[in-house]
Amino acid sequence: MLIKLPKGWELPERTATPEGLYLRRREAVKAMGLGAVAIAAPGLALADGKYPAPRNDKFGKPEPITAEKLATTYNNFYEFSDGKDLWRAAQKMKISPWTIKVSGKVEKPFEVGFDDLLAKMPLEERVYRHRCVETWSMIVPWSGFPLRALVDYCKPVNNPQYIVMKTAMDPKTMPGLEEVVYPWPYIEGLAMDEAMNDLAFVATGLYGKPIPKQNGAPLRLVAPWKYGFKSVKSIVSIEFTDKRPVSFWEKLQASEYGFWANVNPKVPHPRWSQATEKPLGSGERIPTQLYNGYAEFVAGLYTNRTAEKLYM
Ligand code: MTE
Repeated sequence: MLIKLPKGWELPERTATPEGLYLRRREAVKAMGLGAVAIAAPGLALADGKYPAPRNDKFGKPEPITAEKLATTYNNFYEFSDGKDLWRAAQKMKISPWTIKVSGKVEKPFEVGFDDLLAKMPLEERVYRHRCVETWSMIVPWSGFPLRALVDYCKPVNNPQYIVMKTAMDPKTMPGLEEVVYPWPYIEGLAMDEAMNDLAFVATGLYGKPIPKQNGAPLRLVAPWKYGFKSVKSIVSIEFTDKRPVSFWEKLQASEYGFWANVNPKVPHPRWSQATEKPLGSGERIPTQLYNGYAEFVAGLYTNRTAEKLYM
């Protein structure tokens, strides 16, 4: 992000899965009279009937949904590469078994396996806008659970102010870790009231299937009112603390990437405008919206934070 300005974001339209194909898939399964059994059939790669999860449209039904092929082949995951075409390299990441360590201000620190955690969480599907600070954007159906459900499961005590999440570091499978200029591991955090907001989501699935490795398998944060860099991928640790974390990008360049990083078209990045965005696969730029279009859900979080730099 720091080094490369975005380029080449228009993958040719012909490489994209037609959106209708995804939308029609549910109808086709229904029409065939097949339920969870068919969804779990080998070859369909739809983990044991958990996906697609029931849709929750409470936060809107943004359109048009980005072609699956684009959202899964144009990614940011610096652990693998600083280029966008990292999806192949990411397939080397081992995601099973996967353990998440919970520490800090909690009743009792513990570790939990991803499968055990998933079995306890209320799965649903939400279609969210996703806006990268580099100005590309997409609209995708995430499956997962509210971050609040995960926070409650962790049992925080004594009113922690922040939740901090870290990405896995496996030098054997992640060549990007050799780039010593980056302050690994990838760390991100939210204030606790942000984490408890209805919109904050943990994604374990994408397009009605388990989330691909390149998009942050097996679990990642999705905070759609913030620039995409807040949405940390492949989480292995969660800490509750009173100390505001200095996140990956902030450590690297605090004058360009701050803690809050709320989307605001009126506040330019020091090196480019944030007024418009380029939906992946589209030939045209469209206006960017305050809080990425989610002001009704999140603006209240910031009314008393007037002294903070909220939009970078
Ligand atoms: N998480 C980790 N661990 N490493 C990264 O490089 N990139 C961030 C975020 N989470 C990143 C990360 C950025 S800049 C963006 S825009 C989103 O992931 C991209 O998510 P996507 O590839 O699923 O679209």
